Amino acid sequence: MKKRDFLTLQDLSSDEVHHLLDLSMSLKKEKGQHTHHLKGKSIGLVFQKPSNRTRVSFEVATWQLGGNCLYLGPDEINLGKRETTADVARTLSRYLNVIVARTYSHDDILELSRYATVPVINGLSDMFHPCQGLADIFSVKEKFGTFKGLSLAYVGDGNNVCHSLLIGCTKVGLNIAIATPGGYEPNKDVIKKAITDAKKTGAKIVLTNSPDEAVKNANIIYVDVWVSMGQETETKKRLKDFQEFQVNSRLAKLANKNYVFMHCLPAHRGQEVTEDIIDGPHSIVFDQAENRLHVQKAVLIFLLTK
Ligand code: CP
Ligand code: NVA
Repeated sequence: MKKRDFLTLQDLSSDEVHHLLDLSMSLKKEKGQHTHHLKGKSIGLVFQKPSNRTRVSFEVATWQLGGNCLYLGPDEINLGKRETTADVARTLSRYLNVIVARTYSHDDILELSRYATVPVINGLSDMFHPCQGLADIFSVKEKFGTFKGLSLAYVGDGNNVCHSLLIGCTKVGLNIAIATPGGYEPNKDVIKKAITDAKKTGAKIVLTNSPDEAVKNANIIYVDVWVSMGQETETKKRLKDFQEFQVNSRLAKLANKNYVFMHCLPAHRGQEVTEDIIDGPHSIVFDQAENRLHVQKAVLIFLLTK
């Protein structure tokens, strides 16, 4: 039987996305109850970058599902440096049942997937963050009960989180407006594929350089950091280029009055968002963080029972 990976949300059909959302909801209702879905299974987290949410939620998810989880940080497995990525994949496949990888380059995720004989999950690469995207879509469904007629405004960098949201929204028919500064637009191939999905689900896609245009009447405002992990040398330029893209009370006033504020975290208060917004009554950022746990449990069950 061919193994299934979860490298981007493009790996899932719309039906599979909806199935995972339903499964996540039933797992959330179990409130962390111990089960045996992963009995006798070992999950390895091969992480080249730091992590709070992704690491802890995968470790707790595995434990709640009756499996065993190992964290393999950059000091243990220095992908492609201590040994080739292909050898890491082939070796770990002899010990583990799933590899969750967090890398700089998305090519490293593809290389792991190519050589691993067990499922590989992308725990964030420079191109995608599918576990985050799926948890975000789940959080919208949990909050509003539907995707129909809603629109999400993403304000900031056309980065990994933006790409996964774009794919996720178009798979479920959630309208998305993305406002980035010129030169920071999402990847063209990702947009092309999202347009194909949007044609099937009826989702509208707006790409703009105006935060006001994106946020106007939006039901969801979504923000990520301006400087992603690995881009630290560009900090000065980015802080300047993104100045007009801060989500603050002026911008939020343009949204629907019942809007929710989302952020994948970690957040930088005073940069991409002001404190009054992220810590205010519209913010659901910690529900979003919690939902990573439920959604990743669903993904693990899905991949291991395929
Ligand atoms: N949102 C997210 O992936 O957080 P971490 O980088 O802390 O895992
Ligand atoms: N875009 C951010 C997301 C962190 C969860 C980064 O890649 O650092």
